Amino acid sequence: MPFYRTHHCNAIRSTDAGATVTIAGWVDSPRDHGGVIFIDLRDREGITQVVFRPEENPEAAHAAHALRTEDVIQVTGRVAPRLPGTENPKLATGEVELVASELHILNKSEPLPFPLDADISNEDVRLTHRYLDLRRPAMLRNMKLRHKAIQAVRNYMDAQGFLEIETPVLAKSTPEGAREFLVPSRVMPGQFYALSQSPQQYKQLLMVAGLDRYFQIARCFRDEDPRSDRIIELTQIDVEMSFVDVEGIIALSEGLFQAIFQAALGVELETPFPRLTWRQAMDRFGSDKPDPSLGMEFVDLGDVFKESAFKVFRGALDAGGVVKAFNAKGFASVTTGQINDLTALAQKHGAKGLAYIKVENGTWKSPIVKFFTETEKKSLTERLKIEEGDLILFGADTWATVCHVLGRIRLRVAELTGRKPAANQFTCLWITEFPLLEYSAEDRKWNAVHHPFTRPMAEDVPLLYAGDPFDENALACVRAEAYDIVINGMEIGGGSIRIHERDLQQKIFHVLGISEERQQILFPHLLRAFAHGAPPHGGIAFGVDRLMMLLCGTENIRDTVAFPKNNRGQDLMVGSPSEPEPHQLRELSLSVRKRE
Ligand code: AMO
Ligand code: AMP
Repeated sequence: MPFYRTHHCNAIRSTDAGATVTIAGWVDSPRDHGGVIFIDLRDREGITQVVFRPEENPEAAHAAHALRTEDVIQVTGRVAPRLPGTENPKLATGEVELVASELHILNKSEPLPFPLDADISNEDVRLTHRYLDLRRPAMLRNMKLRHKAIQAVRNYMDAQGFLEIETPVLAKSTPEGAREFLVPSRVMPGQFYALSQSPQQYKQLLMVAGLDRYFQIARCFRDEDPRSDRIIELTQIDVEMSFVDVEGIIALSEGLFQAIFQAALGVELETPFPRLTWRQAMDRFGSDKPDPSLGMEFVDLGDVFKESAFKVFRGALDAGGVVKAFNAKGFASVTTGQINDLTALAQKHGAKGLAYIKVENGTWKSPIVKFFTETEKKSLTERLKIEEGDLILFGADTWATVCHVLGRIRLRVAELTGRKPAANQFTCLWITEFPLLEYSAEDRKWNAVHHPFTRPMAEDVPLLYAGDPFDENALACVRAEAYDIVINGMEIGGGSIRIHERDLQQKIFHVLGISEERQQILFPHLLRAFAHGAPPHGGIAFGVDRLMMLLCGTENIRDTVAFPKNNRGQDLMVGSPSEPEPHQLRELSLSVRKRE
């Protein structure tokens, strides 16, 4: 029997009654019913109940006595209907059982370090024994879903005329944003590759090469601190197209997401997805990855408080800032401790305070309400739709500070009040018109918000040339042809139309503080390529691991990956990273200075 079995463990049905079959798998739960042994035999596909009856086959029944959980066995037997009343409707095979005539123990299992059916809170234990953890049904389901999603991607992209092309993992260091992993070259002592943080430059060069439509399921490496939605070894669905504008990329991506959600979950996503510009998203939700379904949208109150007696509000407005608030509906039950925590959070993010109103027993409880006129109160009630039981939270400062701070507060309130999307509810959103540049006070220079190859919006290009060498205020206003796809408040993908002209690319490098000389060191290939017929092009990359968090319904990104690193970047199962042998270092012309 070439494959040890005639059927997998989720195959036999009542129509097979009387047939002789062989199955193989893991002993899930052995039960001894006074000599008769029942075993649930499990493989990737499901479970079949096997029964060993001493009166029918004493030898097999005797051997079955010794079986323990997770032993690997092969059983041959006859399919029989279960006795009436003993069927198990929870199993697809639940109407039948296999009456064993032959048992082969293929491998015994020692007792497991943790029971497979228990909730294990210590993730390190799970990761150390990941091959056992993956036997658990929830993890198995995640792996299957990931496969389905990736299959759907390949089918869809192929149908749209995309070529799947692999690009180097051993790449060159580029200033795309993330810290990179370096790999020493043995042949060129003292020189290093960088592990690809994304195939960004290669995919653009594929467009210059005339390949027109490229995609790749690309492994990317970023030496960042891992977080709940961030890992160091991630997978992207990486896409690039020639002769395309923002609308083209968005239409393609929406079709792709429909195909993925349909294939993986049978969920029909409605298109087109709503869009917000970056400015609108910040203004209304204080985030560039908002989940509008959480409600609590910000309301601008500048006109209401322009004559306010409350000097914090009046002062912010007089200084050219804003006053905004949102209604944390039904959260007047907030405790003083929670208000203090929220205030501390606001201050951590740059606010001077966090004014609030609790509406309880028909009165407004608030340290600031004494400053409000009747007209102001009436306007507030209307604008914020204030009702009994509500909590109103205010921010007064510059536009950027208020949006940022209230954005954080809104998310914390959502957490405290248990607001989160229902299972299988997906709020998809495009964020467009991101700023091209942001000033880093720490580095005292301008950085690219997306990456340095992102195209400025045509109407804002003149702002790049205002001033000599440039006008700081103008730079802050340049918008990019960049877009992110956000689902349930998580950034799932991002991309842009690219610069394809050498002059404009060099202008951007200049603004980013990359001198002509550095450009020739870092990007000579790109600048040369742009001089030899580069087509207009653009693309996007989607984070597969984050997408799988949504499809699998998990808040732990590592649950979507077969062999993830833990939050210190370690693979506890194999024990990496590990110390190299001295001869390995010698070969690489490296020496390691021990940390004191
Ligand atoms: P970006 O850096 O925005 O763009 O990455 C695209 C998407 O990849 C996912 N992602 C991550 N997921 C898990 N852990 C991480 N550390 C991580 N970093 C990124 C996110 C993100 O939206 N080359 C450009 C794309 C382009 O312009 O076409 C890029 O990599 O879901
Ligand atoms: P104060 O008059 O400074 O005691 O502030 C009165 C209330 O307004 C307190 O609840 C503060 O937390 C809040 N507050 C102070 N400054 C701001 C601000 N810039 N934005 C929002 N609320 C503030």
